[in-house]
Amino acid sequence: MNIRQLHPHFVGEVSDFDLTRPLGDARLRALIDAMDQYGILIFRNTGLTDETHIALSRQLGELELAPFFSLRRLRYPELFDAGNLGRDGSILQDERRQLYNKGNALWHTDSSFNPHRASYSLLLAHELPPVGGDTWFADMRAAYDALPDERKLEIEDLVVEHWLWHSRMLAGFPPPTEEEIAAKPPARHRLVQTHPGSGRKHLYIAAHAEHIVGWPKDKGLALIRELMDFATQDQFVYEAQWRQPGDLIIWDNRCTMHRATEFDDRTLRRDMRRTTVLE
Ligand code: OGA
Ligand code: MN
Repeated sequence: MNIRQLHPHFVGEVSDFDLTRPLGDARLRALIDAMDQYGILIFRNTGLTDETHIALSRQLGELELAPFFSLRRLRYPELFDAGNLGRDGSILQDERRQLYNKGNALWHTDSSFNPHRASYSLLLAHELPPVGGDTWFADMRAAYDALPDERKLEIEDLVVEHWLWHSRMLAGFPPPTEEEIAAKPPARHRLVQTHPGSGRKHLYIAAHAEHIVGWPKDKGLALIRELMDFATQDQFVYEAQWRQPGDLIIWDNRCTMHRATEFDDRTLRRDMRRTTVLE
């Protein structure tokens, strides 16, 4: 596998690696090893379609299905809609949907609000705005390594409660309906985890992180905010740019965070589709 590292800590850009045909054991192993090392892999101009995107993702594990309140613009339930288009293919007019999408602009990792975590996300560009709409990534292994030793000791055994609706409300989404609340109850995960593929420790946090189990809410949220700020300092961040439809970025949700960036989403189209692999 031909990989160029794009950031001192993480992120590789892969060339000459065909993702449209079945990987086979050796190439699958090479892909997973590279993911374990780099955390993020960028592939340019892959030629993937909805079908081959899903087929590729299935080789990495069982796929999460998009929840009922998702837009269902897309034909397959395995595809999460990360763009700004409505069911009819034109730019979204639905205020509630737009506010829901704004949650992606907060630093997060996918599906930490579910009890069953996600390992990989594979985000494929179908249509890109001419300016803006980049995706930024942060390295949670490097951030953990850089914490002062006494902080590491203090947080070692903490458990965090993640709630989808917490990040949505932070982004300005109105209080969720009872049906929405019932569909996505909070989930608990350890704050410090060991990444299975590399054996390295990392922070597991996100905008979904709502409180620390057993701590007063204010104190927990203050620590979560402090860690989020620490972990998303420039030195841990890579600003990935999408160049053309067919570009694919795969990230490991366990040891990285990501966020969408601004673009003129009222007048410019952005069609991005994601599969999510269950750990
Ligand atoms: C996602 C996501 C960011 C983006 O699909 O999980 O957060 O830039 N996307 O679209
Ligand atoms: Mn995301």
